[in-house]
Amino acid sequence: MKNTRKIRTFATALVFAGLVASVGHAQDAEHGKSVFKACSVCHSTDKTNRVGVGLEGIVGRLAGTSPGFRYSKAMKDAGMI
Ligand code: HEC
Repeated sequence: MKNTRKIRTFATALVFAGLVASVGHAQDAEHGKSVFKACSVCHSTDKTNRVGVGLEGIVGRLAGTSPGFRYSKAMKDAGMI
């Protein structure tokens, strides 16, 4: 999948940027990975919807617009990117 590849490339670039910038940033990436474990109970990083919507392509997308997911009215009306 094209988007999955983009996300992986982006994630890899983030990790490298962290390594180059400082050891502290690399630790932040590891911390983020560990924090996301709590999200992955409901969210996948691909298009698979679980209790929560699949998060592939979420960056830059209008909130509440992933096709095939039943959002709340509040989420559909949020109007944020
Ligand atoms: C208990 C299940 C659950 C957990 C845990 C959870 N979410 Fe969600 N998430 C949802 C549900 C359900 C929605 C849709 C809410 C709605 O329609 O009002 C949602 C919506 C979202 C959206 C908006 C998606 C869109 O298409 O607009 C994002 C982004 C998101 N969650 C990220 C996260 C992150 C990051 C975490 C961890 C820090 C997390 N979620 C943890 C269930 C969960």
